[in-house]
Amino acid sequence: MKIISGSSSKTLGKKLAGKLSTSPTPLEIYIFPDGEKRVRIIDKVLDQKCVVLQSCCTPVDQNYMELFFIVDALRRSGAKSITAVIPYLGYQRQDHLFRTGEAVSLEVIIKTLEAMGMDKLICFDLHSIKIPELFHMPIIHLSALSLFAKTIKKNKWNNSQSLLISPDMGGLRRIKLLSQMLNDMFFGAIVKSRNLETGQVTADKIEGLENISLKQIKRAFIVDDMISSGGTIITATKLLRKLGIKEVYVFVTHSVFSKSAPKILQKSAVKKFFVTDTVYCPREKRFPKLQILTVADIIAEEIKK
Ligand code: R5P
Repeated sequence: MKIISGSSSKTLGKKLAGKLSTSPTPLEIYIFPDGEKRVRIIDKVLDQKCVVLQSCCTPVDQNYMELFFIVDALRRSGAKSITAVIPYLGYQRQDHLFRTGEAVSLEVIIKTLEAMGMDKLICFDLHSIKIPELFHMPIIHLSALSLFAKTIKKNKWNNSQSLLISPDMGGLRRIKLLSQMLNDMFFGAIVKSRNLETGQVTADKIEGLENISLKQIKRAFIVDDMISSGGTIITATKLLRKLGIKEVYVFVTHSVFSKSAPKILQKSAVKKFFVTDTVYCPREKRFPKLQILTVADIIAEEIKK
């Protein structure tokens, strides 16, 4: 089996290859003076099972194009099968028409991925559980929830003084699953709305806490698929603190940090942020309250099946 990692997932690719007792297949990427890329697979891949790893995060367009070129190069070189692992599927948030006149970006991405003729796709914590149904090709939807449950248990936070919170109603299923992994930990979901023109997030109510006495709750875990600007997490944290919850921790799969996010997050009342390496977090975006968990084992297990 050959593991080929694109530019956005080199670190995760090395870890994954290590877990599979191999090393990544070298890839030559030449960038022309005008920014166009030329991709070349150096090893022989004829009749080989190939796994391409490329997170389609910022710079999202470039990462998608590079993935398409790698897949094309593998196909032309006679690869037996191609599995694309896209730990973060860029453009997934625009999965329907929010306002008339918009493009449905996710549909464009799906059509293009399908046209590339890969055999299988592996993704992580997609924005909505409906996304896999929109594909007409095999897709495996993995999750980092088991890593979060493990971390909560390791810290001995798995008790009746803890509460799981989804920062919006869309994440309800995610925290229900996590609650099941943690002996039915209490959970609630914030009723959030976002101004589509300004991006401003508002949240003033939590659903699901009707039968819980908040006096017994010492800590809350906000669980979400991604952090981009940090606005959602900050708004949720403020609401939880207003309700008297002393400690707030955040568990998020994709650290799609916009430029100002790390500063905002470090300054917030959150005690610690746990994210995964589905999106590579460069040194300049890391901050003291941040801890990165790896999804390499989860991908390796799936590939070994
Ligand atoms: C939204 O529905 C997502 O699940 C995230 O909550 C959102 O994308 C986070 O974005 P930001 O950090 O910019 O608030």
